[in-house]
Amino acid sequence: MKLKRLFVITLILSVFQVGDMTFAKRNNGNKISPQNKMVTDNTNLHFTGRYCNECHARIPGKGENTFLKFGGDFSRLCNCHNYTPWNYTHPVGIKPSNEKKAKIPGEFPLNNGKLECNTCHDIYLQCRYSKFRPPNKKFLRGGPYSKRTVICFKCHDKDKYKKLDPHDQLNADGEIISEKCLYCHTEKPNERNATFENIELVGDIKMICRRCHNILDKHPAGENHFRIPDIKMLKMIKSVETSYNVTLPLDYKGRVTCITCHNPHERGVIPNERKGAKGADKKHRQRLAGIMCNACHEL
Ligand code: HEC
Ligand code: HEC
Ligand code: HEC
Ligand code: HEC
Ligand code: HEC
Ligand code: HEC
Ligand code: HEC
Repeated sequence: MKLKRLFVITLILSVFQVGDMTFAKRNNGNKISPQNKMVTDNTNLHFTGRYCNECHARIPGKGENTFLKFGGDFSRLCNCHNYTPWNYTHPVGIKPSNEKKAKIPGEFPLNNGKLECNTCHDIYLQCRYSKFRPPNKKFLRGGPYSKRTVICFKCHDKDKYKKLDPHDQLNADGEIISEKCLYCHTEKPNERNATFENIELVGDIKMICRRCHNILDKHPAGENHFRIPDIKMLKMIKSVETSYNVTLPLDYKGRVTCITCHNPHERGVIPNERKGAKGADKKHRQRLAGIMCNACHEL
């Protein structure tokens, strides 16, 4: 019992590794041209004491109106990083529950009652020039932090982390705990007949998982698996799905993703006779525990 709890905490402690931070490419889908001709996709604007007009329509004085561009919309101001409420590793653009709101310390401001990028990032810090590599490179409020989880515990209750296990979906009587479904689904799907085609998720599939799991792209077997299988492999996947009565869902763009190999549901939620039940609570939640690799590779 003690051991399991410890494990859960360590797992969450290791989370929130958010990709490698090579300077992010500008979002091509929603490209915003730089004001400054000197600014390219690879320019780091932060801590330079320059490029004010990339973010400010007019250069503000301290304590004045900030004259932010895009009406202060952070999803557009921070556009270089390609983050949206859909794909950022932490929920953003949301109104905290009253319970959570009471726990958020004053040093983490909300924007019109919502959690936004500047709730955790003190953006004004980076407006200023820093000759040396700044110690708080990610300009986190109250930072720098020795461990990234220190900042998490400012708002999240350490002792409640066990409750955060979203794969624990049945109560002691074996009944579905509907709120657990909402970690990933916009509403509780009908376990008897809902399918991947008609469920709606709260964000990008991979990001939902990465909110809690520190699993980067070189996984499993140290290889980047987040790719579109070629035609031969696709045929193999289809035939394995039929012969093993299992689903190996690809993401909306046809790429292999976390839930292609892992079943996020607790055993007993999806009825056993359904394909989607396979792998629930098996080792590492693998849909084909023991022979996972053979689903796609001839070994
Ligand atoms: C990468 C975007 C970005 C750049 C570049 C930038 N700023 Fe800012 N600045 C912001 C944002 C966003 C805020 C508002 C932060 C908030 O409200 O938490 C801000 C706030 C400020 C404030 C108000 C601080 C306060 O709290 O009173 C001043 C003054 C300021 N910036 C000056 C500058 C100057 C001068 C430059 C250029 C040397 C600059 N900024 C460059 C994004 C930027
Ligand atoms: C709940 C707090 C929180 C919010 C809200 C938040 N961040 Fe972060 N952000 C962090 C923490 C903590 C780290 C450092 C993670 C690490 O050290 O691995 C980070 C790291 C980053 C990084 C560097 C690593 C990376 O992912 O590339 C960028 C860029 C970033 N945040 C941008 C944003 C943007 C843009 C938003 C708004 C859409 C945002 N953040 C909202 C807490 C937050
Ligand atoms: C400024 C406060 C704040 C900080 C700092 C913060 N969070 Fe959150 N977090 C929130 C709020 C608010 C929610 C939305 C849930 C709610 O309102 O109860 C949330 C939601 C989450 C969720 C979605 C599950 C849920 O409980 O709804 C995860 C996972 C999460 N945070 C992890 C982290 C991690 C990991 C860190 C540290 C890197 C972190 N948070 C830092 C405020 C914060
Ligand atoms: C940790 C995230 C997560 C949680 C929590 C979660 N689901 Fe899902 N669920 C998914 C994802 C991702 C898919 C799409 C992939 C798939 O079909 O398995 C999915 C698919 C489904 C499907 C379709 C399965 C199929 O065979 O096509 C059903 C039914 C379902 N979920 C029911 C539930 C119910 C009921 C709950 C609450 C007890 C729940 N889910 C909780 C992530 C989650
Ligand atoms: C809110 C946090 C959270 C989210 C979101 C989440 N998980 Fe988990 N996950 C956990 C915790 C806590 C455990 C450990 C407890 C357990 O094994 O049931 C775990 C366990 C696992 C394991 C087993 C690990 C092992 O060592 O055997 C796998 C695989 C897994 N999750 C995959 C996923 C996938 C895939 C998604 C996205 C659909 C996801 N998780 C979303 C918190 C989360
Ligand atoms: C191609 C299949 C495949 C994909 C895609 C995949 N995994 Fe795994 N995962 C595995 C296998 C196989 C293991 C067993 C141990 C190993 O080989 O690392 C595993 C182990 C794990 C574990 C437990 C061990 C550990 O390293 O912590 C977690 C948690 C996990 N995966 C989460 C994820 C998440 C989150 C994603 C998506 C970002 C993902 N996996 C994508 C196959 C996959
Ligand atoms: C759902 C299908 C799927 C599963 C399951 C899977 N892989 Fe892969 N694997 C892929 C795809 C797709 C690629 C990328 C092929 C490409 O585009 O080059 C890949 C690439 C690889 C590569 C790089 C060499 C190559 O063939 O391109 C290795 C090694 C590998 N996988 C090993 C494994 C191992 C070991 C397992 C079991 C733990 C596993 N894979 C499970 C789909 C899968």
